[in-house]
This record gives sequence, C-alpha cells and structure tokens, in this order.
Amino acid sequence: MLPLSSLCRGVRFMAQQHVVALECCSVLCTRASSSSCPSSLHVPPPACMLRPLEVPYRYLFGPGPSNVSPRVLAAGGRPIIGHLHPEMYEIMNDIKEGVRYAFQTTNLMTLAMSGSGHTAMECAVFNIVEPGESVLVSINGVWGERVAEIADRMGAKVHTLVKSPGGYFTNEEIEKEISKHKPVLFFLAHGESSVGLAHPVDGIGDICRKYNCLFLVDSVASLGASPLLMDKQKIDILYTGSQKALNAPPGTAPISFNERACQKMFNRKTKPVSYLLDMTHLSNYWGNDGKPARMYHHTGPVSGFFALRESLAILTEKGLENSWRQHREVAEYLWKGLEDLGLKLFIKDKDLRLPSVTTITIPGGYNWKELLTYMMKHHQMEMMGGLGPSIGMVIRVGLMGYNCSTYNADKALAALADALKHCKKHKA
Ligand SMILES: Cc1ncc(COP(=O)(O)O)c(C=O)c1O
Repeated sequence: MLPLSSLCRGVRFMAQQHVVALECCSVLCTRASSSSCPSSLHVPPPACMLRPLEVPYRYLFGPGPSNVSPRVLAAGGRPIIGHLHPEMYEIMNDIKEGVRYAFQTTNLMTLAMSGSGHTAMECAVFNIVEPGESVLVSINGVWGERVAEIADRMGAKVHTLVKSPGGYFTNEEIEKEISKHKPVLFFLAHGESSVGLAHPVDGIGDICRKYNCLFLVDSVASLGASPLLMDKQKIDILYTGSQKALNAPPGTAPISFNERACQKMFNRKTKPVSYLLDMTHLSNYWGNDGKPARMYHHTGPVSGFFALRESLAILTEKGLENSWRQHREVAEYLWKGLEDLGLKLFIKDKDLRLPSVTTITIPGGYNWKELLTYMMKHHQMEMMGGLGPSIGMVIRVGLMGYNCSTYNADKALAALADALKHCKKHKA
C-alpha cells in the first residue's frame, strides 16, 4: 500500500501538471488564432480534451467487468518499463506460473494474450484449425455462436450442437456428434455467462481423445469461481479473461495449450490467418519455445500485465479452492435473497448454476430495460440484460472477485427490490 502522504503528493503533482497543460493549451490556442501565419491544422483542438478525465464510481454487479481491488489498480499504475526488459520477462514468467495454478495445469505453452477474451478465443481457433477442417461447436448461449462465426470466417467446416439458451449437453449427445462429424476441435463454454450456466466438463476430454479431436474450453466467466481442472479434466486448450472473477482490468486473456494441442498447432500445413495471434511468434515472445532469445513480436500491454500478475497473486494467496467456495457461498446467499423477493432463477438446477453470473427470469409485466436504468440512476449499479439469444429473457447479476461478498449481495438485492417497487408494471 502506498502511504497516504505520497498518494496526496501524487494527486497534487497531477493537478499541477493539469493546470500547466491547460495554461499551455490556452497560450497555444490564442497564439494560433492571433498569428498572422495560417495554421496547418484543419481540425481544431477538441474542447473535451482540455477537460480533466472523469470516471464515476459504479457498482459493477453485472457479468463483467467487475470492480477491481485497490491493490490491482495500484499495480497497474506502476511506472512503465520496456516490454523487452529482463524485469518484464520475469513478470511474464510469474504470470505463466500464476495461470498454471489458476488453470491447474503443468502445460509449458501457457501465456496471456494481449487483448480481451475474444483474442484468446480467436487465438485458439486460428492456431488449431486449418481452412477446410471440421469443427464442432456447442451452442447454448452466445459464446458458441461467436466461436462458430470465428471458425466459419477462417474457412473451417463448422458443425453445431444447439440447445435453447441455458440448456446443456449430455456426454452421449456430444459423443454422437463428434463421431458423426470427426472434428479436429470441439468447443464448450464452461461458464456460459449469457445464460448463467456452469456446464459439466467431466468425461468430455476422454470422448475427444477417443476420436482424435481437441477439446477447447472457454472459462472467461468461470475461472476462479467454479471448479475447473485443466489437466485432470483433459482439456486441451483453455482460455479465460482478466476482468471477471480473476479481477484485473479488461484487456489481457490467459490461455494454455497442452502437448496434444501443440502437436497439431505446430505441425500445420498453412500459416494461421493472423500474424498477431500466431502462436509460433507468441510462444517465443513468452519464452516458451526453448530458444535462447525472446524477440520483438508486438508491444505487450505492460500495465495490463502488472495488474494481471497482481490479480493472480491475490488468487494464489487466497487459494483456488477458497475462491471457488467463496463464490459458491455468496451465490447461494444471493439466490435465496432473489427468491425471497419473489424472483425466479433462470437456471432451475442449482448444480448447473454459474456462481459468478446469476440469471433472473425477467419478472412478469416489467420492462427489463427500465429496471436496469432505474438501478443505474438511483444506485449507480450495473446489472445487465441478456446477450445474444438470451436478450429479453434474463437479467444478469454478477458478484465476482473483489465484489464477491454477502455485503454486496445485500446491496444488489436492495437495489433490485427498490427497482421492482418503483418501476411501472405493464399489462401483459
Ligand atoms: C464466457 C465468455 N466468453 C468470452 C467472453 C468475451 O470476452 P471479452 O469481452 O473479454 O472479449 C465473455 C465476455 O463476457 C464471456 O463471458
């Protein structure tokens, strides 16, 4: 923790800098307009850029991003160092260890993408699949739809296994489709955040191995909140995002490939469609390819990596199992409170509910947008509606990482109760 006096000094310094910047700007503007020589600029300085940055405090109780601890924010505010400095490599090495712990894997090919969860999603598909190869995607919410679209765009033969939003797939159903389509890759969202479902994973890895297919799992909304064991559950490629239960700012996305996945990805006939996401380069950048030198590939998000390292350190200190337990206990507390308010939970089976993102069936007669707008206006609190196929079906409440407490559950319940009381019920 920074002592208060140095924080105050920092704030004073920034305020002084700001005044100096404003004064410089006004001098420049006056000079530019009164100067006899015409300015070469046809776009004037935008007035908004001469105002200080303003960011309100919001209770981020939706599906993400979530509020981040001061410790993680402070880590992100450390001075920038070069992305190829030895100290940065050490921090990146720490991140790899932290991700291995969070994923429960010993995979060498573990790193963090410079980008959001979608970057990791595209990285997995682009590196594993070659144009014309067959891919099977399970769709029970929006994330399978996204992966199917990504695979289709890069020229894969996409097969889908579809359930209505919130449905889940039995291992028999999955095996039937894999044996029929012989895909090189099968995708499943472990935490389907658009519907609030934690999909069972046991046994699917064995099915994939039987048919020589790789098992790709999305844990953006579930990592750290719902049990997942990459190696034991035979997941070949696993990715997540930084901004949910992991609790760092958005913009970095851990990913890991096991030996089977590396065999396929590094023995392909064609180059992956993306240079930026090519694992041949990224594995060198992250020091995973055994070569003595780590070369420039792109400039990684230095501050984002500091914050990610801190969030992984917090998870390590807390313990993964404790984090799962905490998310489950707070979720159960929230579920009971929601039912006490007369609300219905969208996922009926408790064992299939995602502890990080709870979905509430939109209460009869209410306009969900009005409820959300009311809570934002009167409680500075974000909850969200559905996404993709669940739009108009659910309201989503997420209590993740730093936000995961019964205190915040009570705050969320109070805001919802207030919104239900004050928003008009429309006739059906
Ligand atoms: C399950 C899941 N997968 C993928 C994503 C995409 O992540 P991002 O928005 O960081 O690109 C999200 C984001 O909400 C998600 O919940």
